[in-house]
Amino acid sequence: MCGIAGFFTGCEFAHVCAADGAGCPALSADAAGLFEAWYDKASVRRAPRRRLDPEDTGLDLFPRHLVPHIEHPIIRRQYPERVPDLLTHALYRFLSFTVNLELQVVNDTTRKLVMRELPIALDGDTLLNAQKLVCDEAYHALFCADLMRQTVALTGIAPAGTGRPRFLDRLDALAAQSDNPAVTRFLFTAVSEMLITGTLVDARGQGEVPEAVRGVMADHAADEARHHVFYRELLTGFLACLPADRVRPVAAMLPDAILAYMRPDRTNIRAELMAVGLDRDSAQQVVEETYDERDHMDYIRACSREIRRLLEELDLMPVAEVGDRFAAVSLTG
Ligand SMILES: [Fe+2]
Ligand SMILES: [Fe+2]
Repeated sequence: MCGIAGFFTGCEFAHVCAADGAGCPALSADAAGLFEAWYDKASVRRAPRRRLDPEDTGLDLFPRHLVPHIEHPIIRRQYPERVPDLLTHALYRFLSFTVNLELQVVNDTTRKLVMRELPIALDGDTLLNAQKLVCDEAYHALFCADLMRQTVALTGIAPAGTGRPRFLDRLDALAAQSDNPAVTRFLFTAVSEMLITGTLVDARGQGEVPEAVRGVMADHAADEARHHVFYRELLTGFLACLPADRVRPVAAMLPDAILAYMRPDRTNIRAELMAVGLDRDSAQQVVEETYDERDHMDYIRACSREIRRLLEELDLMPVAEVGDRFAAVSLTG
């Protein structure tokens, strides 16, 4: 027995139960019947398969406003005819990011929650909601992989880059520094589930993109609105139940989790630029001048405002260890 109260009173994972979260009550994430209409409303239950049309090759395959490097002078002057290919590569990177996020991170964490492999217990309804979330994420990964294969078949353009989004390496590095990697991965999952909603809403936006691309983004955004609330409630409940000496280092990990998720994937963007014909030095120049760290921080600060607000509500932002870490990585102000 490890002392987790509530729905689970026994625990066969004593090594994790002895760590953060031991003694917390079973957490609830079912505000306003969050997943009540899931069987009717979830994309996996109601959305059609999204299919590219042969005529879609005449459209931008990804919204231009989300691919700032196409505006760099080197691209505008020397490679304007390669912009459609760069948009296709951006679509691949977006889809690969999503497949990896869903299968390697969110569903890994959520499955562990369901199977009692984390020191965070869920109450009965929340446990079922977590299983619905696993179904959602598996479907998001599927429709992204499906759209990727359709796009390769339609355009004949092979994906460039490593095939491994950089955020996975950043998360591994964060977990390796932590004395509780499972909790670090839970924090990253919660942060990513809160941040993805905003980025998907941005992505749905303007431009002449194929109906299939627009549909995939809209299907995803609709489900993530529920996930956002689910993980925000879990994160809040988890932080609120930790003793003061444990919550400080845990909350102080959040800024690094935010950056690990939000920082641009320079490695793979450079590979895309080289795949359309830029030499290595030019590609590096485009990346450095487009994804200047200081400029990008404004966007990350804006996207992460809700997470800072959550910590303020829990009186954690004024705690030096937490506030100092946010300031040190320029996530406040
Ligand atoms: Fe998702
Ligand atoms: Fe999600």
